[in-house]
Amino acid sequence: MTETAAGHQDSYPPSAEFAAAANAGAELYERADADREGFWAEQARRLHWHTPFTQVLDWDDAPVARWFADGELNISYNCVDRHVLDGHGDQVAIHWEGEPGDSRAITYRELLEEVSRAANYLTELGLVAGDRVAIYMPMVPEAIVAMLACARLGLTHSVVFAGFSPSALRQRVDDAQARLVITTDGQWRRGKPAPLKEAVDEALAAKGDVPSSVEHVLVVRRVGTEVPWTDGRDLWWHETVSAASPVHEAQPFPAEHPLFILYTSGTTGKPKGILHTSGGYLTQTAYTHHNVFDHKAGQDVYWCTADIGWVTGHSYIVYGPLANRATQVVYEGTPNSPNEHRHFEIIEKYGVTIYYTAPTLIRTFMKWGREIPDAHNLTGLRLLGSVGEPINPEAWRWYREVFGDNKTPIVDTWWQTETGAIMISPLPGVTDAKPGAAMRPLPGISAKVVDEEGKAVQLGETEANGYLVLDKPWPSMLRGIWGDMDRYRSTYWERYAEQGWYFAGDGAKLDTDGDLWVLGRVDDVMNVSGHRISTAEVESALVGHPSVAEAAVVGATDPTTGQGIVAFVILTGATTPDDTLVDTLKAEVSKQISPIAKPREIHIVPELPKTRSGKIMRRLLRDIAEGRELGDTSTLVDPAVFEAIRTGGN
Ligand code: WTA
Repeated sequence: MTETAAGHQDSYPPSAEFAAAANAGAELYERADADREGFWAEQARRLHWHTPFTQVLDWDDAPVARWFADGELNISYNCVDRHVLDGHGDQVAIHWEGEPGDSRAITYRELLEEVSRAANYLTELGLVAGDRVAIYMPMVPEAIVAMLACARLGLTHSVVFAGFSPSALRQRVDDAQARLVITTDGQWRRGKPAPLKEAVDEALAAKGDVPSSVEHVLVVRRVGTEVPWTDGRDLWWHETVSAASPVHEAQPFPAEHPLFILYTSGTTGKPKGILHTSGGYLTQTAYTHHNVFDHKAGQDVYWCTADIGWVTGHSYIVYGPLANRATQVVYEGTPNSPNEHRHFEIIEKYGVTIYYTAPTLIRTFMKWGREIPDAHNLTGLRLLGSVGEPINPEAWRWYREVFGDNKTPIVDTWWQTETGAIMISPLPGVTDAKPGAAMRPLPGISAKVVDEEGKAVQLGETEANGYLVLDKPWPSMLRGIWGDMDRYRSTYWERYAEQGWYFAGDGAKLDTDGDLWVLGRVDDVMNVSGHRISTAEVESALVGHPSVAEAAVVGATDPTTGQGIVAFVILTGATTPDDTLVDTLKAEVSKQISPIAKPREIHIVPELPKTRSGKIMRRLLRDIAEGRELGDTSTLVDPAVFEAIRTGGN
């Protein structure tokens, strides 16, 4: 066992016990290396193909890949019907937990009936394969049913996070020219019903004399409040879908048939509609869900805490787990409704064995204090996952110790909306794990860390941080940006056009063992006196100090050094700041990383600005650090945090 300077264990090999029973063994890497396409063909055979494929990869039209292109399948059949036909109709697919405490257990047979009813009704509405449907719903079972019904009919869904504004919804509806919006009357938020249908009405109101493309709005009753109604356009789910036939025969579609569009922010103001197709996407989501989470159908109780509004919800709540016949928890509300015990109560109540969440939530739990998880029996947990941003080693260790009783493997999974599924992660039972490192590309995946010119960076090189590129096509890769293939080429493929590599937009390094560390978005990398320093590294050093609960770091323009490091920190509940604290924290960073990483300023603040998906909005912090007018705050959860930061800052 090796140790860091601070006396921490820095590498965690899998336990013999876990390895003995793990789905994945070391031979997976060897098989994939020996014959990559053969390996993926094998993985694709996890699925049911109505027409078997004979081709694996067609890369002639690069950078648009075609995988398993002459095969035909139905995504919804793979996620639902075949489990019922295989005799597992009574297995619970979804343990749904509503925010107010109501709950529903939905078996695979019931899911099949619901999806079939919805498919029959959408057909009755005249929707045909290739049409687009916007889904703007909170975490209710009907949201998953709606996605699967679209998939069943070859309709392309565009899920829009229910926390987005009416104008964001309109922009997405317009871009995809959606014919139908599926929504709810409202959503539960911290014990109160909040309206949602109103937002749809506002979004769809004619702009001047331009009506929206939407013909109908299908509304699920969730909170029971009065909603505005447009006769002829608006339809209640319980009067239409619920009355439709529960029998529907799924038709096959070609493997490259579009499955969904999911919008994600880019460097410009216009969101990018990331397009995913069917066969390759389901192959890789199912493969990774099986191996990375070591998922065992019929035994595990799996819980991914994401929202279906994000790619993690698409790939690791809906498609991957259901393709693998998971029994999973889906929770409607926030982690502190009605109090901070909620997640832990749910883990206990359903006997959750696999828990997949984001570092920002782990740090929130740390801030609330370990006595909360300690009050619960979490011994059912056998695997923990992290996604969304680099996890700081402090949070990683806390997660393992407090959730995992110091023995549960943690999979730190790197991927993106664009990659569709997990790309870089330890394989539990096979790969050592290091706190903060995503470790290795999965079997079948190829990645490199290169410099500006595309030259491989040296192992252990920490100052000249490299860029993460994906040098070979993978099954669940995006097939383009909806309606803007030029932007697809320029955003991802221009930078390393000569080599034909996908540019991920993330900085990365390889340590002396050759293990991969993702350092955060390249636009979050600071340059101080010619040294590249990752915001994530400085944040991690700050959070490593016992007084700091959460930190966000930005590079602000500096007349002498190019950029100076400006940090915003939230203190732990028990800390009362004194005059020396800021200096102590600066010294800590200097000690943990290097004097060049020492922050120029540290501001103690009560809150950090976050998007609704929990990402810290560094761009806005940079505006504050550089004394500018605030830029676009439309995706911010609570714009009032700025007043708090300004008055709390020094
Ligand atoms: C970041 C979320 C480090 C990264 C699935 C990536 C990560 C962006 C990790 C994609 C991780 C995600 N370690 N960074 N394990 N996972 N990221 O599209 O910067 O919402 O480019 O997809 O999140 O975010 P997206």
